[in-house]
Amino acid sequence: MKDFRVRMARPDDVVAVVRIANQAFLETARLTGPIGRSFAQQLRDGGEWLFVVEDEDGRVVGFLLGRHSGDTAKIGWIAVHPNYWGMGIGGMLLRAIEEKARRMGLRAVETGTPFARSFYEKYGFKCIRVQRALILEIAGKSIEPPQEVRMRPLLLDDLSSLANIMGRDDYLSLLSSYFSTFQSDPEKALLSLDGENVVGVVIGRADSIYRDLVTLEYLYSVEPRYALSLLYGLVYLSSVEGLRWVGVRFPVPHIDEEELRKKGWKDGELPTFWTRYWMRKDLK
Ligand SMILES: CC(C)(COP(=O)(O)OP(=O)(O)OC[C@H]1O[C@@H](n2cnc3c(N)ncnc32)[C@H](O)[C@@H]1OP(=O)(O)O)[C@@H](O)C(=O)NCCC(=O)NCCS
Repeated sequence: MKDFRVRMARPDDVVAVVRIANQAFLETARLTGPIGRSFAQQLRDGGEWLFVVEDEDGRVVGFLLGRHSGDTAKIGWIAVHPNYWGMGIGGMLLRAIEEKARRMGLRAVETGTPFARSFYEKYGFKCIRVQRALILEIAGKSIEPPQEVRMRPLLLDDLSSLANIMGRDDYLSLLSSYFSTFQSDPEKALLSLDGENVVGVVIGRADSIYRDLVTLEYLYSVEPRYALSLLYGLVYLSSVEGLRWVGVRFPVPHIDEEELRKKGWKDGELPTFWTRYWMRKDLK
């Protein structure tokens, strides 16, 4: 059995770290950009929350990227090369961030995880909150447009008239969502009509890594009964565009999680879109 030790990360570790991430997160090999960038940026700022584990030959086999926020240390990414799973290396990395947090007088270590809940529980973390993210796989399915309403693209010129039917806060959130997706996805903003009356707005956003995933960015319906049709207007548009998944992060006004599950929606497990179990360990 080899010996392993934890040390602070160095700039020459970044490529090894990226390789480990791409192999450890089995669902994807697309983490090179986000992980490489975060590591390089944090190293430039001193890198005091970056840890790696190396074996006795100096080969990096695991890493943890953390940060400090208020009185809490946060774990952003943790991964161990699959050949070394179950040998306690993940636990060494958790201890390293805990010890540093204790030295700095912080009160807890926190993280959000989709799949590794039992790993954190083994080391004394507790689940304090769950944020559901449901996903519908639409590839290969026949998706019909919603019957109850008619959908058409939401144009810049429509926005002023919406100010008259929406409350101020809803309208400002709509503007913020519309303009934040305007550059990349103007075609994923839809207006919903019942006859001649506007009954809602729905806006989707293509995921930055999974371009075939559209996530619900904004939904407004004048009455609760239109909300599901609005969502399915976005699902239909996505299927017409040949995309693969639609994702919804809860809570969404007037959309019921159980109702979506009955329609085949499942917990998201893509690295950029997942049901998040918030784990916390209080430091005594
Ligand atoms: C989660 C991970 C970091 C654990 O590293 P590790 O070195 O195997 O961890 P340890 O050996 O210290 O602990 C192993 C324990 O964690 C749990 N565990 C390990 N991998 C797990 C996984 N993928 N999902 C859930 N629990 C897991 C098991 O309870 C295991 O206990 P056991 O050996 O008694 O069965 C590693 O499996 C990994 O890199 N996974 C892929 C990336 C990932 O999921 N990162 C965390 C989510 S952000």
